[in-house]
Amino acid sequence: MRMRSTITLHVVASLDGFIAKKDNSISWMDTSDVYEKGVTDDGAEVLQSIDCYVLGSRTYEHALELGWPYGDTPTVVVTNRKLSCTRRTVEFYSGDLKRLVDEMLAPRYRNIWLVGGAMLGQSFLRLGLVDEIRLMIAPATLGDGLHLFGDSATEQKWHLKNAVAYRNGYVELSYGRGPRL
Ligand SMILES: NC(=O)c1ccc[n+]([C@@H]2O[C@H](COP(=O)([O-])OP(=O)(O)OC[C@H]3O[C@@H](n4cnc5c(N)ncnc54)[C@H](OP(=O)(O)O)[C@@H]3O)[C@@H](O)[C@H]2O)c1
Repeated sequence: MRMRSTITLHVVASLDGFIAKKDNSISWMDTSDVYEKGVTDDGAEVLQSIDCYVLGSRTYEHALELGWPYGDTPTVVVTNRKLSCTRRTVEFYSGDLKRLVDEMLAPRYRNIWLVGGAMLGQSFLRLGLVDEIRLMIAPATLGDGLHLFGDSATEQKWHLKNAVAYRNGYVELSYGRGPRL
């Protein structure tokens, strides 16, 4: 039972719905100093409240290249390969995602952030494992790349919990799960 834990899918997407360019470059993201203050300023508090990150292996590999952004927070990487463990806080998981949530994550963590990429996010959505979506929209169109919601093959209503506009043009939309359609 994962009564008390919440899985939040958090991603930054371009205005036309991509989370990565084909060449993986992130020049389209404003990486300077997180986001300038918006309507609310709960950034640091929100980050401190995260108990665990979950990511796909490709996001893991890209994060290692770019510079580890998850600090010392426990991080679970989903992969079917034998990847080398580079950090004490990283665990690898292979297998059924519902089991991952029910048996490995929910008993240990309350506030779980699924931070991509597209493939793992879509798998979680398809299985109905996402409770909240925090979507940061960047003021850029990319033309092509990796689709945020590509093919999750599931219809679901979401209710808007919060919307924050930042001075650098980013907008964060937070949604909670509504009834299935
Ligand atoms: N804009 C953003 O907020 C954001 C966030 C995160 C990532 N990104 C970018 O997105 C790109 C990576 O995304 P991606 O979609 O290519 O890959 P991904 O979702 O990060 O990783 C996919 C991998 O996860 C593993 N996996 C194992 N079981 C799975 C399952 N049931 N469902 C899905 N994945 C499973 C597989 O690893 P194995 O092949 O090892 O078995 C699979 O190849 C990178 O460029 C990254 O920088 C952007």
